[in-house]
Amino acid sequence: MSQPAYLPSSIARARNIADLRRMARERLPRMVFDYIDGGADDEVTLARNVSRFRDIELVWEALKDVDKIDTSTTIMGAPSASPFFISPTATSRLFHPRAGELAVARAAHAAGVPYTCSTLASASVEEIAAVNPGPKWFQVYVWRDRELVKEVLARAKAAGFSAIILTVDVPVVGNRERDGANDFTVPPKVTWRTATQALAAPGYLWDLATTSEIRPANFTHIRMNTGLIDFINAQFDRAVTWDDVRWLRETWDGKLAIKGIATPEDAQRCVSIGADAVWVSNHGGRQLDTAPASIDTLPAIADAVAGKVEIILDGGVRRGSDVVKALALGANAVAIGRAYLYGLAAGGEAGVRRALDIIDSEVRRTMALCGRTQLSALSRDLIFRRALP
Ligand SMILES: Cc1cc2nc3c(=O)[nH]c(=O)nc-3n(C[C@H](O)[C@H](O)[C@H](O)COP(=O)(O)O)c2cc1C
Repeated sequence: MSQPAYLPSSIARARNIADLRRMARERLPRMVFDYIDGGADDEVTLARNVSRFRDIELVWEALKDVDKIDTSTTIMGAPSASPFFISPTATSRLFHPRAGELAVARAAHAAGVPYTCSTLASASVEEIAAVNPGPKWFQVYVWRDRELVKEVLARAKAAGFSAIILTVDVPVVGNRERDGANDFTVPPKVTWRTATQALAAPGYLWDLATTSEIRPANFTHIRMNTGLIDFINAQFDRAVTWDDVRWLRETWDGKLAIKGIATPEDAQRCVSIGADAVWVSNHGGRQLDTAPASIDTLPAIADAVAGKVEIILDGGVRRGSDVVKALALGANAVAIGRAYLYGLAAGGEAGVRRALDIIDSEVRRTMALCGRTQLSALSRDLIFRRALP
């Protein structure tokens, strides 16, 4: 799809997520933009996540009364004004050093949608809870140091996080070649290449220079002699199996979602282990490249487990119509990643609010155009089946 070369003059003039992406590219040093925007290897899955949504054709039921559209729902026991919410993304202060997670958490609360905090967030669970009294969840990995996991879970619980999200598609970190080409590390190291890129983004550089160091804020008591990626690699336990998920299920008595599921078999394992939600995801194309688009793996998973547990989907959602398609194909809710990160990078809290607002109004408009007023009425009959190739 070709987009006109248009750079909005203000956040309020951003018409869609693609506009926010262009504004983010303008404001960020290239290495930071590429860290958000990029994926693994040849970025086949990254592109497919988006393009497969476009391939799915919607039809509509004509002459239905669509005067009142209701997008409110419940996701993992939490009320939500819309059928989408904030997906966890590591170190959000990197994308806007002044705003970071706190701005995203505030924007989510203002929009009435749940917020998910990454294990590797650059704000602590306590700081996030202080700005977001609404529904919030915490994403975890089963790290080598299980005591560290237990400790952070206890803190999340005390701060009012009602669900945990276990991410299972990162046994090792994916091969993100844009980062290597840009000399990109977290926190950024000064090399000729990174310095040149940073100098081209003075607004970002000013924010970076005049705010505190960007670190994984929930682990400030841990000594990190090396960079974040080395810390992650040291903590990632490649030997984690479903037995460890059982351990986590016993350790945490709140809601549990398992994020990074691509097959009906694994979805069924989530059900039998007592998870509350199966989260269909390929980490936004940042892990196993040439994995199928998330939306393509959804129908079989929905057939296998729908009704037993909730189904969440992420990957490639850039339009409200994508949300409608995912719900029509069996998801209960959709998580958004880059769509709000582009907003954050483009304009801090106002940018995230704009991103959420754009997707919300697109969901409502798509529902009206399809002749459906309730989320529960978004069903497979809205998906066009081609008789001709
Ligand atoms: C910059 C960035 C950082 C991310 N960090 C995490 C993370 O810390 N934990 C996690 O489970 N997923 C992480 N993700 C994956 C997202 O939660 C989500 O699965 C993905 O972004 C969805 O695809 P989309 O960006 O196309 O919407 C990250 C994604 C991006 C783009």
